[in-house]
Amino acid sequence: MYEANTIYNYNFPTNIKFGVGAANELKHYLKKQGLSRPLVVTDPLVSELSFLKALVDGLNQHGLRTNIFSDIHKNPLKSHVLKGNEAYFEYKSECVIGIGGGAAMDVARAIVLSINHHADLFEYDDQIGGSELITEPVPHFITIPTTAGTGSEVGRAAVISEDESKRKRILFHPKLLARMVFVDPQLTYDLPAPITAATGMDALTHNLEAYLSKGFHPICDGIALEGVSLIYASLEKAVNNSDQESRANMLIASLMGAVAFQKGLGIVHSMSHPLSTLLDMHHGLANAINLPHGLRYNIPGREDRFKVLAKTMNLPKEDGEAVVNALFELNERVNLPTHLGSQGVTQEHIEPLSELAVKDFCLPDNHRPAAKQDFIDLYSEAL
Ligand SMILES: [Fe+2]
Repeated sequence: MYEANTIYNYNFPTNIKFGVGAANELKHYLKKQGLSRPLVVTDPLVSELSFLKALVDGLNQHGLRTNIFSDIHKNPLKSHVLKGNEAYFEYKSECVIGIGGGAAMDVARAIVLSINHHADLFEYDDQIGGSELITEPVPHFITIPTTAGTGSEVGRAAVISEDESKRKRILFHPKLLARMVFVDPQLTYDLPAPITAATGMDALTHNLEAYLSKGFHPICDGIALEGVSLIYASLEKAVNNSDQESRANMLIASLMGAVAFQKGLGIVHSMSHPLSTLLDMHHGLANAINLPHGLRYNIPGREDRFKVLAKTMNLPKEDGEAVVNALFELNERVNLPTHLGSQGVTQEHIEPLSELAVKDFCLPDNHRPAAKQDFIDLYSEAL
């Protein structure tokens, strides 16, 4: 909501090269910047893909000395970041290139922070005011997404978990933004359908929650609505019968979701984070299942915004229930599970999940407050 006595601070600084073949420009960019020893940070799956090998060969044939660090997990831990930090120094690297999905980007971004900031990594946790300590220069950071989901390539935050407790810590600073993002739809052409579906629903959740979140940010609202429109029109095609246009739309719309959610996220993410923390559930899948339930909770007080969303999605009825029903149906059309029970969640999990959800860092941005009992009800509905 607009507040007349507030000075708002809006910030859209990222350089983006978008289009088929954009990743091929990386070698020219690095040369131009005088960077000859990049450390590629990626996940074990992407490190085995032929495009990555071709990309690295291309860099090395161009006179660069490229090394790869891929010892990471889908829910990244501090120990992964520390190993990556060692690799950076061992290879005498000059810059970091994060290639992959959210986990690779998170680890790459945290490595970037760790190079010249020598306190314990979690001293820089934004939740305890650690961002104030991020004062030193950071290495040149480049990102290349290979999934259309988190949009982390344009983000300024890394979520890293403690090794023992698995508690999520947040490293956040504008210095952690990529200096250049190469967004190449070709890199998503071979994504398997279930990954396309789950990551795509994460991207849709970002755009929807950003638009519905508290705060006054018409720039992010506009980006989020166009993101919703692109994803709602393209996701089913990208999953079931993908073509160049649907892949390109999904990739740019996922990036738009991450740009938009600097405004904030909400209760769907608050439900989903504990499912990853406690049960190691895929983040996109958790969001897909929780999305219609969390959005239904958010209709009261946001009827006007749901009407705009229904229009944006071209639904025959223009109200919140129509949006919620369309999301239930979309999950089915992209062949995703629609109940948490199918993912091993049981009645006994609901109490500890709700305990964590009510403390989640996304909840303060949700327009409608929620107590622990609300999460118990929501998880029970989604079970
Ligand atoms: Fe997300």
